[in-house]
Amino acid sequence: MPETLPVDPAGTGASTDSDREARIEQLLLSGLDHYFAGKFDQAINIWTRVAFLERGHGRARAYIERARGAQAERHREHEELLHRGVTAYQSGDMHTARTLLTRAIEEGGPTDVALAFLQPFGDLQESVEYLTEKGDKRLPKLMTDSSNLGKDNQPFDAGDKRRMNNLGSRRWHTDQSFKMRPVKYSLLCARTVAKQGGETQFADMRGAYDALPGELKERITDLAIEHSLLSSRSKVGFTDATELEKARLASVHQRLVRRHPRTGRRSLYLSSHASHVVGWPLPEGLDLLYELTDRATQPQFVYTHTWQLYDAVLWDNRVTMHRARRHVPETDPRDMRRVSVLDETNTLAQPV
Ligand SMILES: [Fe+2]
Repeated sequence: MPETLPVDPAGTGASTDSDREARIEQLLLSGLDHYFAGKFDQAINIWTRVAFLERGHGRARAYIERARGAQAERHREHEELLHRGVTAYQSGDMHTARTLLTRAIEEGGPTDVALAFLQPFGDLQESVEYLTEKGDKRLPKLMTDSSNLGKDNQPFDAGDKRRMNNLGSRRWHTDQSFKMRPVKYSLLCARTVAKQGGETQFADMRGAYDALPGELKERITDLAIEHSLLSSRSKVGFTDATELEKARLASVHQRLVRRHPRTGRRSLYLSSHASHVVGWPLPEGLDLLYELTDRATQPQFVYTHTWQLYDAVLWDNRVTMHRARRHVPETDPRDMRRVSVLDETNTLAQPV
């Protein structure tokens, strides 16, 4: 006759009533640990399991109620911080805005904060991740994943194409200049900071323009530049675009010299996505683009940002270029998340 198996209809993993009670007690305590660590979601999940195992468990229900209250209070405080931060930013009080928004990011989800912060400034850019399958995306559609991590939050393997594709951000560029309506503002949030390297550098394209010789300024004022993602990808070794990709990634034209609509200052609009000067012989146009990029990225125009956990850096792509510095992508996780606002029009439709 076969041995009788222990019966455990509730699925607690316990075989007797006392085991079951002990297990429930353990779950209640584990929920409290999460609760006092501020992890209300996990606490509620655990206590919900207890309430399911033992229908109407009074303590579990009371705990869940309390955790929901704490969650609602945190959400309210978070919204308040965010609202005050955005108001301070809009009134030009950068110090207060920085303090409040940093707290909001530390205490809330950076995804929600970044999206809510930028939403009032215009249309948000949908992320473009050509090498990521639909189901493998880590972040929401309006957030660009600038990390070296897969959906399992582990660094990409050495041969992973997504890792090589990230090398594109190591070249000086402005975000999405290959789009008809390029990106205006970008907000980059640091969720895991690389242990070594991985800084972001910014080049001031207003200062670079101001420092150009007068005759060069005159020569370039009305030039249009062709930009395409195929061009920048080819610069990091992706030269095997399919016909479909070529059709999807049609190039666009942008102004080389822009005028900022608020300050009235002129600046250079360059990017690794720039392929040539419209209407010029290719070598002559490339020569100009190389020279302007060299001039614009001299040390006196460059700021290097060394990331701290939860930093959020906001920049205006209309007056800057940026690039990421080297780190060790196969072993050193770097989790950076970007949200961006689109410019109103193509740059050629803007007065210079
Ligand atoms: Fe970028």
